[in-house]
Amino acid sequence: MVAVGSKCRTCKAPAIIDLPRHNAHFCAEHFLELCRRQVVKAIEKFDMLSKDDRVLVAVSGGKDSLAVWDMLIELGYQADGLYLGLGIGDYSDTSAVYARNFATERGLHLIEVSLRGEYGYDVPTAARATKRVPCSACGISKRHLFDSEALKGGYTVLVTGHNLDDEAAVLFGNTLRWDVEYLARQAPVLPARNGFPKKVKPLVRLTEREMAAWCIVRGIDYLVEECPMAVGNKHLAYKAALNEIERQSPGSKAAFYLNFLDNMAPLLTGITAAATDTLQQCNSCGAPTTGDMCAFCRLAEKAGAHEPVPVELVIGKGRKR
Ligand code: AMP
Ligand code: FES
Ligand code: ZN
Ligand code: ZN
Repeated sequence: MVAVGSKCRTCKAPAIIDLPRHNAHFCAEHFLELCRRQVVKAIEKFDMLSKDDRVLVAVSGGKDSLAVWDMLIELGYQADGLYLGLGIGDYSDTSAVYARNFATERGLHLIEVSLRGEYGYDVPTAARATKRVPCSACGISKRHLFDSEALKGGYTVLVTGHNLDDEAAVLFGNTLRWDVEYLARQAPVLPARNGFPKKVKPLVRLTEREMAAWCIVRGIDYLVEECPMAVGNKHLAYKAALNEIERQSPGSKAAFYLNFLDNMAPLLTGITAAATDTLQQCNSCGAPTTGDMCAFCRLAEKAGAHEPVPVELVIGKGRKR
């Protein structure tokens, strides 16, 4: 990760990581300090969390969500975890073990919800039943269960591990299409509204690579493997394109996303407000929706009626954004 002989910018001890966008190297201690500072800065700037909040962290067993849970506990927040068993074959079985072990080792509370066990379907089956890309069914299921579990448990804020790479890639895709409605919704904080909990992304100032390094330094075991159904998706292509730009011009990725938030997002607020005025209650589960039945209940009904489809039959179909 770092050239032999490099020194920490802060204390001059041998460095363990170079961060070209900060034009500096850091030792383990000062790297962790930098990460904490970036998280605190995001929390304060966007008014994400207070120490009185009851926080629910959505944990996938991957590096980002375990790192953000670790950081929030370290910073003194009361945070439980939520793991969703999406039924994506071995990938889901293994990711559950990482999430569970993290919680057990630290004495933290992890809520587990199984799509198959509690709602009668899984993501591969839903993808096949709807004839849409797996990430579409996956996204609908996750968003709905994040909201419903947070509200059910009396949590005031739901945290996800979306990092700078994730947010910049989504912004890149939305910008390529000039999808103004999606651009308007791309905030690191979604305030609580009727039937929706507040949702926040404290890692928006930190990269994927930095989160992997956080986990290594802190001794956190995480699932390295990507979701098998993500192969070939556009999101990964946008990340690769941004990484190439970043390599040639360090700091571009952060400037692209963070300057969007500062300079462009404020001009789009009216568009978001208009879209949320027209919601009513789902006649099956009561969640806010634009039609009679919410997207989750429609999906559960359709996928639940389909015979189970193993993940191998639907891999490589890509993510829709
Ligand atoms: P992804 O959409 O897979 O890029 O994941 C984005 C964020 O969603 C992660 O950082 C987690 O906070 C959350 N997440 C993803 N998968 C799960 C899961 N199976 N259970 C709970 N949270 C998840
Ligand atoms: Fe796994 Fe889309 S279903 S990344
Ligand atoms: Zn140092
Ligand atoms: Zn519903």
